[in-house]
Amino acid sequence: MPSAAPAMYVLGVDVGTTVLRCHVYDEAAVVRGSSWKKVEKLCPRVGWVEFDPEVLWSQFTDVIKEAVQAAGLQMNQIAGLGISTQRGTFITWNKKSGKPFHNFISWQDLRATELVNSWNKGLMLKVVHVISTMLHFLTWSDQYLTASSLTFTTQQASLKLAWVLQNISEVNQAAKENNCCFGTIDTWLLYKLTKGSVYATDYSNASSTGLFEPFQMCWSSVLSQLFSIPMSIYPPVEDTNHSFGSVDAEIFGVPIPIVALVADQQSAMFGECCFHAGDVKLTMGTGTFWNVNTGNQLHKSRAGLYPLIGWKIGEEVVFLAEGNTSDAGTAIKWAQELDLFTNVDETSKMAKSVVDSEGVCFVPSFSGLQVPVNDSCACASFMGLKPSTTRNHLVRAILESIVFRNKQLYDTIVEEMRIPLTNIRADGGVSNNSFIMQMTSDLINKKIEKPVNTDMSCLGAAFLAGLALGVWTDKEQLKKLRQTEIVYEPQTDSGEYEFAMDKWIKAVQRSLNWYS
Ligand code: G3P
Repeated sequence: MPSAAPAMYVLGVDVGTTVLRCHVYDEAAVVRGSSWKKVEKLCPRVGWVEFDPEVLWSQFTDVIKEAVQAAGLQMNQIAGLGISTQRGTFITWNKKSGKPFHNFISWQDLRATELVNSWNKGLMLKVVHVISTMLHFLTWSDQYLTASSLTFTTQQASLKLAWVLQNISEVNQAAKENNCCFGTIDTWLLYKLTKGSVYATDYSNASSTGLFEPFQMCWSSVLSQLFSIPMSIYPPVEDTNHSFGSVDAEIFGVPIPIVALVADQQSAMFGECCFHAGDVKLTMGTGTFWNVNTGNQLHKSRAGLYPLIGWKIGEEVVFLAEGNTSDAGTAIKWAQELDLFTNVDETSKMAKSVVDSEGVCFVPSFSGLQVPVNDSCACASFMGLKPSTTRNHLVRAILESIVFRNKQLYDTIVEEMRIPLTNIRADGGVSNNSFIMQMTSDLINKKIEKPVNTDMSCLGAAFLAGLALGVWTDKEQLKKLRQTEIVYEPQTDSGEYEFAMDKWIKAVQRSLNWYS
C-alpha cells in the first residue's frame, strides 16, 4: 500500500503595528498553533514613531519557533512561510555590512508633516506636471494625478525617505556611493532570513510606499527625481507569491521556503476571499482600513482614496482602492491605559449601558484625520464633557467615533465607485466589538460578515503561500476554507444616529488645523 502523503502545514506571520503574530495552519486552514508578541514602539521625539530592527527581528523568529512548538510540530514539517507586514514602515541599511543606518520609521511617524504639507500645495503639483511634460511622461502623470489626486500623506514612506536622505548624512553619502538599501519590513525580514542573499519586495508592498507607479508597475522615476531619491536604493519588485528563497538553515534548523510577501491590508483582503471586483473589506486594527477590489482597473479618486496593487500572481494583477483612518484600536488602547476600563471586552457592554454619550464627542485623531477630511494637523479631542459624564459615556463616545469614521469612509467609497459593491467583510481585533459592528451596519445600512478568525492578514499570507506551495489548488478552494462566524444586519434606522453624528462632525470641525 502506498503510504499517505505527509500533512502540509503553512506559516502565516503578520507583523502589525501593535502585535506581531504567527499562526500555523493545516490543510483545512485550521490554526494548529499560535504565538504573538506586543510590538515595542519607540517615540524618541513628539510625533516620531520608530521600531528597533533587531528587536523586531528577534520577536519575528521567536513567534515562529513558539507557534510551531505550540502546534506540537517540528520545523521540518513546515511546508513554507508567508509574511504579511504593516505598510509604509521602512528602514535603510548599508549594502556592504548589512547594518541599519537608523531604526524603522513607522507609517504613523509624523516627522515629515511639513514636507508633506508643502508638497501638497498647488505649486508643487504644478512642478510635477511641468517636469512630467518635459520628460514626456504627460500621459502617466495625468493618470497618476487623477488616480490619487497626487496627495502625499505622512503614512507613506515617500517623503519620510526624502527626510532621511536630507537629515541623515550617512544615508545620503551611502546612497551617493550606491551602498544603501531601502526596504519596507518585508524586505528587511527577507534579507535577514536569507542572511543577506535575497533583496526584494512584492508589488503590494511597493505600491504602498507612495514611490511606486502603479500604471507602469515600476518605481516612479519622476517622484524619485523630485524627491532626490536615487533609484539605486530600491529593491527589485517581484510577484506576491512565488519562491523568494529559503530561510537560512542556521536560523530554524531547516531551510523553510519563503513563498509569499504581502502588505497587510492586501493580505487581509486575500484572507477574506475578496477576490472579485466590488468585494469590500473593513479591517479595524490599529487603524481602520476599507478596501475595495477594483479588478484590473486602477481607481481614480477625487477624495483621496488611494489606488493600490492588491496582489500580482503570475499574469493576474488585482487593484484595490483604499480609504483609511490611522486611529481605531489606538483610541481604545489609549483609553485602557488611562484606566477607563480594564479589559477591552468590557467596552461594548459599557457603551450599551447608556442610551447615548450624553452629547460627549471624541475625535480620533492621534495621527491626523485622513479621507475624506484629509487634515494631518487635526487634533484628538473630547468635547461636551459635563459633571454628569461617566466612564461609560466616554467609552461610548470613543466607540461611536470609530463608527462615524467608518460611515464617512464608506460614504466616500459609495460616492466614487462605479462598480457595484457586493460583500462587506470585517476583520481585525476591533471587529470583535459588537457595539461597533452593529452600529456600523446600522449606519451604512448594509450586512457585514465577520469571520471566525479575525487575524485575516495572517490567513491571507498563509493562503498566498499555500497556493504557491500547492497545498491549495485555487481560489475556489480557499473560499470554502474561510468561515463566517456572524453576520451583522441593520437593526436600527440610521436616522436615529443623525443627531449624534451631526454633533460629532461639529467636534471634528473644531479640531481641524490644530497643529498648523
Ligand atoms: O498602512 C498601515 C497598515 O498597514 C497598518 O496596519 O494592522 O498594523 O494596523 P495594522
